Amino acid sequence: MSQASQNSDVPDLGRRQFMNLLMFGTITGVAAGALYPVAKFFIPPSSGGAGGGSVAKDALGNDVVVSQFLDSHKVGDRVLAQGLKGDPTYLVVKEDKTLEDYGINAVCTHLGCVVPWNASENKFICPCHGSQYNNEGKVVRGPAPLSLALAHATVNDGDKVVFTPWTETDFRTNEKPWWS
Ligand code: FES
Repeated sequence: MSQASQNSDVPDLGRRQFMNLLMFGTITGVAAGALYPVAKFFIPPSSGGAGGGSVAKDALGNDVVVSQFLDSHKVGDRVLAQGLKGDPTYLVVKEDKTLEDYGINAVCTHLGCVVPWNASENKFICPCHGSQYNNEGKVVRGPAPLSLALAHATVNDGDKVVFTPWTETDFRTNEKPWWS
């Protein structure tokens, strides 16, 4: 028997190690693929921010980049973004063309309709049953019983807006926030 035929019948050490490695990689790859959705289910989503907040997203699901956002919006605009827990939340452009440091949750406190901003009236007016909120989201006409919820809106190092929960006194009512 020649040396060559011996080599083809009995894989040498390097080839066996390679095959083992390949097998190991395949098995762990399949296992990781199978476990990923399970792990994802149990780990709450987080999109950055030192305090565990969530990065504001636009209507297309892209992160809001503050410089671009301010280039395309004017003073006084209230613009919907995706906020904490996916709630629609208004970003507010201030007089000095910077972002207000809070976002206004757009979910009506009456029965949960999304409340549009009415620039000509300078109010949020709910189309469902006519509740009205001032330009900071404070309720000024029922049937809504409460003001719109607030969230902190800060700009991170990456020029993105990060929403974090508002747990302090509501500056509009001087009361404890009803939503926390
Ligand atoms: Fe907004 Fe009823 S849901 S007024």
